[in-house]
Amino acid sequence: MTRIDRVVAWEALDSRARPTVACRVSLSDGSSGRAVVPSGASTGSYEAFELRDGGDRYFGMGVRRAVEHVNTTLADAVTGVDAAEPDAVDLVLEELDGDSRYARLGGNAVLAVSVAAGRAAAAAAGVSLARRLHGPGALPLPMPMINIISGGAHAGRAIDIQDLLVVPVGADSFAQALEWCARVREEARRLALADGHAAAVLVADEGGLGVPVGGNADALELLTRAIEAAGLTPGAQLAVAIDVAANQLWTGDGYELAAEGRALTAGELVDEIAGWVARHPVVSVEDVLREDDWEGWAMATERLAGVQVVGDDLFATDHSRLAEGTRRQAANAVLVKVNQNGTLRGARGVLESARRAGWATVVSARSGDTEDDWLADLAVGWGAGQIKVGSLHRSERCAKWNRLLELEATADTVFRNPWREVT
Ligand code: PGA
Ligand code: ZN
Repeated sequence: MTRIDRVVAWEALDSRARPTVACRVSLSDGSSGRAVVPSGASTGSYEAFELRDGGDRYFGMGVRRAVEHVNTTLADAVTGVDAAEPDAVDLVLEELDGDSRYARLGGNAVLAVSVAAGRAAAAAAGVSLARRLHGPGALPLPMPMINIISGGAHAGRAIDIQDLLVVPVGADSFAQALEWCARVREEARRLALADGHAAAVLVADEGGLGVPVGGNADALELLTRAIEAAGLTPGAQLAVAIDVAANQLWTGDGYELAAEGRALTAGELVDEIAGWVARHPVVSVEDVLREDDWEGWAMATERLAGVQVVGDDLFATDHSRLAEGTRRQAANAVLVKVNQNGTLRGARGVLESARRAGWATVVSARSGDTEDDWLADLAVGWGAGQIKVGSLHRSERCAKWNRLLELEATADTVFRNPWREVT
């Protein structure tokens, strides 16, 4: 039998020493699943509510109340539910709070149970989470988008934009994709050191270089040089992606590039991004404007035609926001962060709606993450096409890459390259 027997949560730590919710769901047949949830730093206002304790413990970041909710209200509600029945657990979880963003129980509490129950069901079926979510057939491995240089809220604002990433668009396998990106990261570190940036030995929150190399354009220049130094062809083999995380630049009446001492309007920021796209092999840009500027986003998507325009804070993995976005053609791709939504069912629904609209989908980790690797299985099982986990340093990042390498080496897989047709 695959009914839920027992749900136990506890407080764990994420990669920034902040408490997070961990949970084990056990079934009546003896199988079980465990999950630890991640947490963002550049969070959007429309994300599922992250319940924190306040007070002195962990600077107010404790999650004992969320843990308590799992061990009482959530456990009571899901005990006896058949975990093998698709969506059964999530449908119960989604009804419990009364608030669509889980303001009372905490999205962190709800997600821990959702993922642990999904894993328990996979364990009961004797298959991986990826296989259970995907069903039969070759498992589609996603194209990775890998952080090389960090800025914004992840690197003490060393540069203004949050992420400069590489996309191994010419790779033939997931293993080759990672090897190329590792080469570029190392070359970027060496070049930055040679340029006199001693801080290039330090890493930012997502394992990228957190080095103040000058302005955004200097950082892009460094990245393109690093691709060449790695012996790879910019554009054909290694392309560039940017997460502007523009919410973080918004002052209330404009976008402030503090590292460059400039203030821009929405139109000027899009012009600036269009300039980067013209001068460098940029194939993807994320959060180009703040989360409430729907008209600005539609203008940017038109202006940046041919480039993947990804909404992260804009959509916050929320159904109605995505519907608004597809109606307005405010982007052409969605970042899917399950903790922005709250349940696996909810996040998958957003991903599938985006796909039905002809949009690309990118499954993403958070800047505060853990050694847990379930995100890799989601990206594969949902056929997301792309995955973004941060860089190749630090084990909470490598856990996901290593899980994808394991699947490529041991399961029936196919490496999906969504850029093949484009390049
Ligand atoms: P976050 O950053 O987890 O701090 O929100 C990740 C991103 O913006 O993509
Ligand atoms: Zn983002």
